[in-house]
Amino acid sequence: MQITLRRPDDWHLHLRDGEMLSAVIAASATRFARALIMPNLVPPVITGADAKAYKQRIMAAMHEQGVKSNFTPLMTLYLTENTVAQDVIDAAKDGTILAVKLYPAGATTNSASGVANLDKVMPVLEAMAANDIVLCVHGEVTDPAIDIFDREAQFIDSVLDPLRRRLPQLRIVMEHITTRNAAEYVQGSEANLAASITTHHLMINRNHMLAGGIRPHYYCLPIVKREEHRQALVSAATSADSRFFLGTDSAPHTRTAKLSECGCAGVFSAANTLECLATLFEEAQALAKLEVFASRSGPAWYGLPVNEDTVTLEKRDEPLALPMPFPVGDDTVVPFDPARPIYWHQL
Ligand code: DOR
Ligand code: ZN
Repeated sequence: MQITLRRPDDWHLHLRDGEMLSAVIAASATRFARALIMPNLVPPVITGADAKAYKQRIMAAMHEQGVKSNFTPLMTLYLTENTVAQDVIDAAKDGTILAVKLYPAGATTNSASGVANLDKVMPVLEAMAANDIVLCVHGEVTDPAIDIFDREAQFIDSVLDPLRRRLPQLRIVMEHITTRNAAEYVQGSEANLAASITTHHLMINRNHMLAGGIRPHYYCLPIVKREEHRQALVSAATSADSRFFLGTDSAPHTRTAKLSECGCAGVFSAANTLECLATLFEEAQALAKLEVFASRSGPAWYGLPVNEDTVTLEKRDEPLALPMPFPVGDDTVVPFDPARPIYWHQL
């Protein structure tokens, strides 16, 4: 059995910089046509000039790695309390960036320069709403008193919903949703709200991470939740509702950084995402909807054309081997283990 779909895009991707960028660029650039590149470098991608320079480094890494594809990195800016509205508008108008990313300060990897007080960025958000610039949001509260498993649900009530009431024209993507609450919140919204969903949050729950031993390679943020939430995400992703689209949040860290005493958050899924998704969508009897989720709904939201070329996957009797660890200097990056046999192979 085979399926052919328009070439997918990845609407949430961490490519990093330097050695790591060189190590992982081919995994995305040979599979996806476009990806929305997250700006949480050290230091972050804050200005239009930063985004232009970072895009050039990505293109240079592709060249250096001999990647022959038309992969297009779509850039984002990292919103800080010092961001100037006009810089954002200029960067969007000249096509340097496609969206702006809001990290609540302290929510995740390299988010220290993020936003602690939303009031301080309201002028920028108002300008974005007026100029139809998309805001991508890491949707977790950072209050240490809130349980880590409740931080997304709490964010909807205490930050996202009030923001949307205050600025209904602002187009928002709730990134990498992980809960039934988030899926239902998006489903119940009238306009200007969408959500990306990762491969790993569709495939694993918190038992995979914590039962029978702790598996640091499954540790990511927002943290994986209980099975009931995974099922709600699968329903949303396979429903052909165009408000849900693929953003892998593929986020490479070295094996050493993952396995340290304070391990980094992130799952590196770029190298086997499509095969995993085909397996999952087939299980959900929704293989025909995979193209909507991976290739059509994202471009529709961002007002871009669907990719012209296609990819084909084939179901075989023998399972797909786990991708080998990717060498990075003296270290490696370990690809996502989907915790079940994958019979779909990309041709
Ligand atoms: O797991 C994650 N890793 N979640 C994020 O929000 C950031 C990312 C990273 O940059 O490592
Ligand atoms: Zn991310």
